[in-house]
Amino acid sequence: MANILNSQPHSDPVEIAPDIWWVGEFDTKLQCNPYLIIGSHFHVLIDSGSRPQFPRILMKILKLGIAPQTIGALVYQHYDPDLCGNIVDFVDIINSQNLKIISDQINLPFISHYAPHADLLSTQSINHSIVMDCDKKIQFYNTPHSHSAGAIVTLEESTKTLFSSDLFGSHKSSAKTFLTAYSDCRKVSNSCPQHSSNSSTETLCGQREIDDLIEFHRVQIPCTKALMFALDVVEKIPFERIAPQHGSIIPTRQIADSIIQDLRNSGDFGIDRILNHHLHDDSTRGMRFS
Ligand SMILES: [Fe+2]
Ligand SMILES: [Fe+2]
Repeated sequence: MANILNSQPHSDPVEIAPDIWWVGEFDTKLQCNPYLIIGSHFHVLIDSGSRPQFPRILMKILKLGIAPQTIGALVYQHYDPDLCGNIVDFVDIINSQNLKIISDQINLPFISHYAPHADLLSTQSINHSIVMDCDKKIQFYNTPHSHSAGAIVTLEESTKTLFSSDLFGSHKSSAKTFLTAYSDCRKVSNSCPQHSSNSSTETLCGQREIDDLIEFHRVQIPCTKALMFALDVVEKIPFERIAPQHGSIIPTRQIADSIIQDLRNSGDFGIDRILNHHLHDDSTRGMRFS
């Protein structure tokens, strides 16, 4: 399934599991991945995306035959502009008093600045779950400080799809929707021939994608303890695929477990890395603009 999906153009939405669709766009600066969970009459949009991307994300949703007014909930797993920037646009186009905007209570005061008049709901107030009008149930788990204080990850139970927000994300864009080469790359040897070549992002081998994923966590996660705590939380969740907000989808539990072990074995993250490796550079202070 993954290889067929990888060959689809990014102009189309991609079904990553039954009734769960990737509705993002390929972006060479920082790829963002909003996802739509389709119910019978009530749909849920996860991490809806940035303001500049709104028209293309909306087009993908319309291509699925979904009327915006039938989106009942917008879920935000933290409050950065790359996933929250278009809240105001979605609130406007959905135009429903029943629309719920859901996030951890720590995030809500920040999210209110994107949509001052919208109805905000904490995951705590709904017992960390949503039951949809179909066989789908959504569960929220806290992963504090990975990378925001109120960060959450979200499991859709029937398909065992874990939406992980910035966890398991990457800086580099990948033209592949799914991360498929990793297990093969690892099977052949620890460093495959493509790994050291200067290939474009389109031909990144699985190992290089993982190197980039680890580097993303080194920079974006505040400290090693926070990441290890989040990995402990994630490992206990009964998921079968990971749908991150950046980079490629991790299609199997086996690949995800392997990535988790790589992250656990990759040394320091965030401020621990900066302090332990003396990476703090004061030399650019006082730069002149002319
Ligand atoms: Fe973020
Ligand atoms: Fe992000």
